Amino acid sequence: MVKKSDFSDKFIWGSAIAAYQTEGAHDKDGKGESIWDRFCQQEGVICDGTDGKVACDSYHLYETDIRLMAEMGLKNFRFSICWPRIIPDGTGEVNEKGIDFYSRYIDTLLANGIEPWVTLYHWDLPQALQDKGGWENPECVEWFKYYCQVFHDHFGDRVKNIVIFNEPSISSFFGYGTGFHAPGIKSEQAYLRAAHNINRTIHDAYFFLKSLKADYHLGASYTTPLIKTAFDDQKAVEIFDSLWNRNYLDPVMTGEYPDVFKDAFKEANPDTIGAELKTPLDFIGFQYYSPIYTKATKENDEYSFFGVWFSETPDTFDKTSMGWGISPESLEEFINDFHARYGKEMPIIVTENGCAYEDKVTDGKVNDDLRIDYVEKHLEIFAKYSDTVKGYFYWSLLDNFEWADGYGPRFGLIHVDYESLVRTPKKSYFWYRDLISE
Ligand code: NOJ
Repeated sequence: MVKKSDFSDKFIWGSAIAAYQTEGAHDKDGKGESIWDRFCQQEGVICDGTDGKVACDSYHLYETDIRLMAEMGLKNFRFSICWPRIIPDGTGEVNEKGIDFYSRYIDTLLANGIEPWVTLYHWDLPQALQDKGGWENPECVEWFKYYCQVFHDHFGDRVKNIVIFNEPSISSFFGYGTGFHAPGIKSEQAYLRAAHNINRTIHDAYFFLKSLKADYHLGASYTTPLIKTAFDDQKAVEIFDSLWNRNYLDPVMTGEYPDVFKDAFKEANPDTIGAELKTPLDFIGFQYYSPIYTKATKENDEYSFFGVWFSETPDTFDKTSMGWGISPESLEEFINDFHARYGKEMPIIVTENGCAYEDKVTDGKVNDDLRIDYVEKHLEIFAKYSDTVKGYFYWSLLDNFEWADGYGPRFGLIHVDYESLVRTPKKSYFWYRDLISE
């Protein structure tokens, strides 16, 4: 049984959500359109045909959410700012009503003794910037710096902890490579441009924010699955590991791209390839859920990306309702690989870890023992690495819109009825409360 005392007194305990997945109010109070608002309108892109127009309606119900956090004894909460809510066209005028919303949100967290951890970018790019090429356009670095300046001017007095970017791999791989996510572009070249520009953005935003306020605590969050194959195909693993992990972790940690992708990045980004990428982040955000299996593709395969694709996770694993294999051992292997490759100096904060099940409310209760078991097993691994792992944010506080997977998968500690918007704390909510208050 995992205990709070397995971690240091300074260990950061939290939970997380993101704007598009929970806020709703997609066109309220002057908010601009985001790429997810636009993407969800296309037929067939979200498995259940839904969108984030209402989601958990946290834009209106945030006080209820924060009350539930306070009752859980939560001391750290990670949420994202929707860029087009505060700057509707991305680079122009500031929307005061959007600023007011996040100001009230931050004040309410602080009044309840909860430290805000703000993710600046959790995938909802202003559509107006996508119309100029989005992350494929090298100018995105300057657009993002302007957004950082607006953030600093309005919230920098109260927010210290910042995740600059959430999962650059998913934004570029799914957004520009496979088209599974907004903006829905399917191209290897677009992927290489977006990935590189996002890496540049993280680097430049880090130094820019530090120049505005030296004691900002700055990190970026990365997907950190162990990549495996059932086919003894190490080349496929190397390529997929780069696409999912190393094309982002290598530049930020070492300043270089992995060998298998060096030339491709150079050719796709001739104007900016010499740019500095190594970044002395204050922490690196780990987002671990499951191992991912890959395989080399064949000529006639329907799906292929740089010669590789996903393959079924073997049935030897227990799986969550999304079919993701449960494997704390893979987490441990990933952490060991990370340390071997990049050293042990970089503090790690687990900015996401969690699991989805089709939780149901019965007699006012949600018995999600499987979630408790999952969290416990993963925390046991993190506890072994307490010299480098400094915090843990459960994903997510509330059930929410799981992007292209719609509303089926429920990750929350708190169940949300999407009709009535009623929140029901699950058994795991009380378990986590007891753990972190121990
Ligand atoms: C990573 C993303 O940051 C988050 O938005 C998503 O809901 C979870 N993983 C689960 O897929």
